[in-house]
Amino acid sequence: MAHENISQVIESSPFIQKHSALLRIWHWVTFLILSGSMITVLIISTMLNPRANIALVQNQLKGKGVAVSEEQAFAVSHEYEDKMWEVHKLLGFGLAFLLASRLLIELVQPREEKIRSRIKNAIILFKLNDKNKVEYRHYVYVKRMYLLFYLILLLMALTGLGLAFGRELGFPRQIHNLLKTVHSLFQYFMYAFVFLHLCGVIIAENSKIKGIVSGMINGN
Ligand code: HEM
Ligand code: HEM
Repeated sequence: MAHENISQVIESSPFIQKHSALLRIWHWVTFLILSGSMITVLIISTMLNPRANIALVQNQLKGKGVAVSEEQAFAVSHEYEDKMWEVHKLLGFGLAFLLASRLLIELVQPREEKIRSRIKNAIILFKLNDKNKVEYRHYVYVKRMYLLFYLILLLMALTGLGLAFGRELGFPRQIHNLLKTVHSLFQYFMYAFVFLHLCGVIIAENSKIKGIVSGMINGN
């Protein structure tokens, strides 16, 4: 490895990196839309859970002198759940669009800001084998985790779009169920990423890498 190449990597401060304006805008819009998407799932599985709301519908109608069966009450509570799924679907289209934009941003980013260069530079630092080896190894993991996040987002978007347009595309029942299973399984990777990412940036900000969060706002 050329000597100047290594010193270039170190000089540009390995942990505090430049972020283009496009990437920063992308990051915060994605933060908002993905949080919204996760909140819709949270609301549906708690407040709008149609089974849990059967008794509520029955009691409200009973107070007005109307007795309805569980099945009839379910038809009403289910409608509210469906309304929220509509919101989830719209936010999901937003996420699919954001993912496509991220790909385009990657193509126009300065070379040193591309994910590939970032991972490559992280590996160069790790191979230096100096006293910061443990931190450099962690840094390689962090950069790879972003790549994994994009892959999981791609899977969520593809399965989500499959669920949204499956009927029009003539998908059989088994495919629909498979998409549903994969989509709902991979949601947990999203939660895990967001949790680890938040812990990671907070820990970094409070230790050696001060300014990492404001860097995602002002670009460093
Ligand atoms: C990336 C773009 C996404 C799209 C296009 C999308 C779209 C959809 C659609 C159309 C449904 C079916 C709703 C219905 O039953 O009417 C669905 C269900 C669901 N989505 Fe998404 N979604 C996306 C991202 C996400 C994310 C980020 C999460 C959570 C982290 C998530 C969690 C879920 C869950 C838990 C279900 C219910 C699956 C089931 O019925 O078992 N989705 N999504
Ligand atoms: C839904 C929530 C979030 C998602 C999905 C998310 C996603 C991402 C992704 C994919 C990257 C890598 C960008 C790239 O270089 O390609 C990133 C970087 C970053 N994010 Fe987030 N983010 C979220 C929330 C946050 C929040 C709330 C903060 C601040 C408190 C934050 C601070 C940062 C910082 C400082 C970086 C750069 C870290 C580095 O240089 O390694 N993120 N985020």
